[in-house]
Amino acid sequence: MTQVTLIPGDGIGPEITEAVKAIFAAANVPVTWEEENAGQTTFDSIGELIPATLIASLEKNKVALKGPITTPVGKGFKSINVQLRQMFDLYSNVRPAKTTKGVNSRYENVNLVLFRENTEGLYAGLEMWDERLQISDSIARITRTGSEKIIRAAFEYAKKHGCKKVTVAHKANILKSAGALFLKVAGEIAKDYPEIQMEDKIIDNMCMQLVMKPEQFDVVVTTNLFGDILSDLCAGLVGGLGVVAGANIGDNMAIFEAVHGSAPDIAGKGIANPTALLRSAIMMLHHIDLKDEANRIEKALEATLANSAECTGDLGGKASTMEFAQNIIAKL
Ligand code: NAI
Ligand code: MG
Repeated sequence: MTQVTLIPGDGIGPEITEAVKAIFAAANVPVTWEEENAGQTTFDSIGELIPATLIASLEKNKVALKGPITTPVGKGFKSINVQLRQMFDLYSNVRPAKTTKGVNSRYENVNLVLFRENTEGLYAGLEMWDERLQISDSIARITRTGSEKIIRAAFEYAKKHGCKKVTVAHKANILKSAGALFLKVAGEIAKDYPEIQMEDKIIDNMCMQLVMKPEQFDVVVTTNLFGDILSDLCAGLVGGLGVVAGANIGDNMAIFEAVHGSAPDIAGKGIANPTALLRSAIMMLHHIDLKDEANRIEKALEATLANSAECTGDLGGKASTMEFAQNIIAKL
């Protein structure tokens, strides 16, 4: 049995984590959950956004499945997601976007994996505010070490999975300092992978290319803010936020979570799509070497997605979150 930390999260988080738990139980996955929450829920109950018990659990288990978290808006609240990623140096945010049979989208044959730098860039937390002059600065910190780690992770992934091309998305033409460093490091690392083609695309053109011809991309690597935006864009290419998974991976820990947030507009209604979190959980199973379980659940999921009537409303069906989960369970 592998023990995994489970963070239900806020909004639709508890609903979709229940669905994943039910599917794992039905598939007899040898995983036990250690449930520890964070975010709005723990803030309201015990006044803490990231309780010490959660940190202890993560340090012990080193693997977690996480629902989305609402960061209370207001002064002094740093994003909990950003904090967790920085605290444990989870520098790779890996987000696959793949066309799925039966899932409605404008495109066919999209199959790319986005590597988003997860700890620095504009999300480094270097923010200054001059009350008198009413001037605010948010500094995009790019480091050589940070860039090397995410770019190497992207190339290593490409090598392992036989991908032919790594695209570096950047704005080095304007961001002469931070953007240029990221691009320069990419060029250096690419030399270690002669079998893989590296191309670079300026971020604005990258967005246009993704919308016009997303099939051309394989592995994409970029800095934190661009990666955040591109991940939702890529979700839109393959059926929306309800279906795309993600992983925050460091050298010593990994936290798996969907790309989407807590979806307050549909929370509590039992209609959220559990696919994105389930796919994140499948990535987690690969990470802890439970490949057979991962493949079995994935097959049942794909078979369910192929028939939109068995899915939630965002995919054109009428099923509730739990009915969708039961439809998957029936195919295990
Ligand atoms: P969101 O991703 O929560 O929702 C955007 C849209 O997609 C909404 O219309 C929502 O209903 C829909 N959607 C998202 N997930 C869905 C699912 N599983 N099934 C069906 N529809 C789904 O983004 P939003 O509304 O901008 O952010 C809400 C909150 O989530 C904010 O507090 C934000 O900070 C937080 N957030 C947390 C993240 C995390 O914990 N990793 C990531 C992104 C946002
Ligand atoms: Mg985002």
